[in-house]
Amino acid sequence: MKQAGIDIENLSVRYGNYVPVRSLSLAVKPGEFVSLLGPSGCGKTTTLRSIAGFSDIAEGDIRIGGASVRNVPANKRNIGMVYQDYALFPHMTVEKNIGFGLRMRGVSGNEISERARAAADQLRLTDFLDRFPSQLSGGQQQRVALARALVVRPDVLLLDEPMAALDKQLRSEMQFELKALQKSVGITTVFVTHDQEEALSLSDRIAVMNDGKILQVDDPETLYHYPATRFVAEFVGTANLFKGHRYESPDGKKPDRARRTGHFRSAGT
Ligand SMILES: Nc1ncnc2c1ncn2[C@@H]1O[C@H](COP(=O)(O)OP(=O)(O)O)[C@@H](O)[C@H]1O
Ligand SMILES: [Mg+2]
Repeated sequence: MKQAGIDIENLSVRYGNYVPVRSLSLAVKPGEFVSLLGPSGCGKTTTLRSIAGFSDIAEGDIRIGGASVRNVPANKRNIGMVYQDYALFPHMTVEKNIGFGLRMRGVSGNEISERARAAADQLRLTDFLDRFPSQLSGGQQQRVALARALVVRPDVLLLDEPMAALDKQLRSEMQFELKALQKSVGITTVFVTHDQEEALSLSDRIAVMNDGKILQVDDPETLYHYPATRFVAEFVGTANLFKGHRYESPDGKKPDRARRTGHFRSAGT
């Protein structure tokens, strides 16, 4: 499969006077799994929608596979997207749902059927091809949404909180399955979540966002052990946050020995 990187450069998005994404830069390598992690309202979905072409780029640029998509409409960007509520078509069977993107692209009936069945097979949906979305469990619906996104062989896969509606048990099963699928297909993936555990267990790298900006981008291990700011430390996990005092004067002089000793004693070490 063709692997495309995503380069977001100084992206700003505007809704009237409001700027939910402010000069955001992020480079996702070909085949990489990167999460956007941050609290509700911080601009994750807006950023994802800009990659997909559903939110206008006010400033900056986005390149996919090295080519700017700034003036490319959403339906001409080769992107697979899974929405938070899956957005399956209720009046279409699983097979029709999965084949939808291929029909839109004018692929022949035989090929649509063949590829939809192959995608269904890959996601363990073969027994459900004739069912409607309302006749499926949450996990099955999510797998249909994934199959529908992947069947068009997109350059990149965008996932907006796809696990949010699943219970905890199913969620960890689906996380495992998603990760395995992403690795085997090798597709460049941007995954949006507000759940730090989910980001830590799935991602090659995590971009922590707050207030329309990225605060830190690192692999899970580095992020967890070396948060760059208090916000990142608190958001990623409070276990590694300690109260402390800085015994350093503003002129940069080292603290004197007596004060350091006192500090260590008072810390109980
Ligand atoms: N169509 C819109 N018009 C105006 N404001 C919006 C619109 N969509 C989202 N917003 C606002 O932009 C901010 C970022 O939203 P969003 O990207 O959906 O955040 P997240 O996905 O991180 O929860 C929020 O304050 C939200 O209310
Ligand atoms: Mg969102």
